[in-house]
Amino acid sequence: MTNNANGGCGNGHSKEGKTSFEHVYNLGDSRGYFEALGRLDYRAPQNGSLFFPTLVRAKKRGSGCESEGVTVVDLCCSYGINGALLKYDVTLDDLYERYRSEELASLSSEELADADAEFFGDRKREDSPRVVGIDVAENAVRYALRVGLIDEGFAENLEEDEPTDALGKAVSRADLLVVTGGIGYAWESTFDRLLGRMTEEGDMPWVATFPLRMVDYGPIAEVLSKHGLVTEKLPDRTFSQRRFEGDEQEYVLGELESMGINPDGREEEGYYHSEFYLSRPLAEASEVPVEELVGVSAGDAR
Ligand SMILES: C[S@@+](CC[C@H](N)C(=O)[O-])C[C@H]1O[C@@H](n2cnc3c(N)ncnc32)[C@H](O)[C@@H]1O
Repeated sequence: MTNNANGGCGNGHSKEGKTSFEHVYNLGDSRGYFEALGRLDYRAPQNGSLFFPTLVRAKKRGSGCESEGVTVVDLCCSYGINGALLKYDVTLDDLYERYRSEELASLSSEELADADAEFFGDRKREDSPRVVGIDVAENAVRYALRVGLIDEGFAENLEEDEPTDALGKAVSRADLLVVTGGIGYAWESTFDRLLGRMTEEGDMPWVATFPLRMVDYGPIAEVLSKHGLVTEKLPDRTFSQRRFEGDEQEYVLGELESMGINPDGREEEGYYHSEFYLSRPLAEASEVPVEELVGVSAGDAR
């Protein structure tokens, strides 16, 4: 694991007015994270799991070589939750139950990592992708690696620095870049630097993300376009991400109003909502629209 992390976040592109969870981002294991986020019904990795496996299968078919493994880069991977959902037969609710259970509460982080390795060892999915995790939180990345939720991990901050050679090499032939709960922390510099390395060798990667509705994704789409990818938003569908806390709702409703976005039935009901964006090379995007690829017809209820 390479380490040039600052352990924190907030790069000036994150929106103000959000509760900070920095105190649970870099612990020795994921229990504090699941406790803090579970209290607010955080669903981002589960939203990711609606589509990421489909994209992995599509990439595998597209490679024309069924025997070849697919590599997924999970940016802002934290404790490896997207990796867990991709590689093992578990749901986010299983993980909430496990990491908030009294049974595991008294274990040290080392004991938990051992118990986890056994727990996940029994649940490995056939054909699971190889997952490369990137996050500024060194302890979280180390835990995810130790348990086997990611295959390679890098504690690097690409908002501030170029990727190390090791990270560049690990992502150079990757098929898919995914982000849940991380857009805003990771912004233009991160995508530019990462895509620079991801497009050096092999086929063009796809980028699949769930930014909150109050984030203007335009600058990221522009960076991706510079690297040859066309960005589509899944139409008519939003994804409940987590409950608001404190005065977050008031702030978000104000932001949405200034952006001309109607919060009725969504943020108005007390939850942050995200949208799904997929970026692909033009030829692939023209062939199958995003809603067809992920099996959602326009007009589906959220
Ligand atoms: C809300 S968590 C999301 C974690 C995970 N993807 C999920 O959905 O559960 C945000 C993560 O972004 C990480 N982060 C913050 N700034 C970052 C940066 N510049 N580069 C990479 N990761 C960053 C934090 O350490 C934290 O793990």
